[in-house]
Amino acid sequence: MNSTTVYTSGVIVMIETERLLLREFTPDDANAFLTLCSDPVITRYTGGPAMATLDDARKGLLERPIADYRKHGYGRWACVLKATGQVIGFTGLKFLDELGEVDLGYRFLPDYWGQGLATEASRPCIDFGFHRLKLGRILGLVDLDNGASVRVLVKLGFAFVEMIEYFHGQVAKYEIVRT
Ligand SMILES: CC(C)(COP(=O)(O)OP(=O)(O)OC[C@H]1O[C@@H](n2cnc3c(N)ncnc32)[C@H](O)[C@@H]1OP(=O)(O)O)[C@@H](O)C(=O)NCCC(=O)NCCS
Repeated sequence: MNSTTVYTSGVIVMIETERLLLREFTPDDANAFLTLCSDPVITRYTGGPAMATLDDARKGLLERPIADYRKHGYGRWACVLKATGQVIGFTGLKFLDELGEVDLGYRFLPDYWGQGLATEASRPCIDFGFHRLKLGRILGLVDLDNGASVRVLVKLGFAFVEMIEYFHGQVAKYEIVRT
């Protein structure tokens, strides 16, 4: 059964899965974005700029995902739990200027870990990359100590390529190739 629906209206992308709605972030999502970027349990393996206030989060939204939508037409998308309407994470593709390639990223609130949500949210993002953006491959960059993230990549069909130097140190480069 295909439980994913993709709606596009101009550059706005909305994807519906069984339990989630994926949509573009807006500055009104600052509260959720702040938690996702400042809770040390969530950011243990992710790096990224320090964020302490709602103003930091609004600025972060404007400079990162919202800037990416404007520049590329896609970026990390907010994941809304359909049952409650709450933003519980993000997932999606991002163009990495440093590598000239696109990677998949995801982050969820710990209360929602271990329910298959990152995998569910990421599958349609990969389809979007291959079928709408016509990408040849999508990367996944991960700290090998981040077992849950590695497992998500493997469940999605990514394969290990090599270790690379990236910002804070060595990360594993995984890839999935369009077939
Ligand atoms: C990575 C993350 C998004 C996974 O979200 P999730 O919704 O729990 O992912 P899923 O439920 O789809 O899959 C998680 C898988 O990892 C497994 N897992 C969990 N912890 C693990 C660990 N320490 N080592 C190995 N596997 C682990 C789970 O059992 C599950 O696999 P299974 O379905 O075969 O049982 C979530 O842990 C998170 O937000 N982490 C913080 C942010 C982050 O690190 N993002 C990735 C940066 S590269």
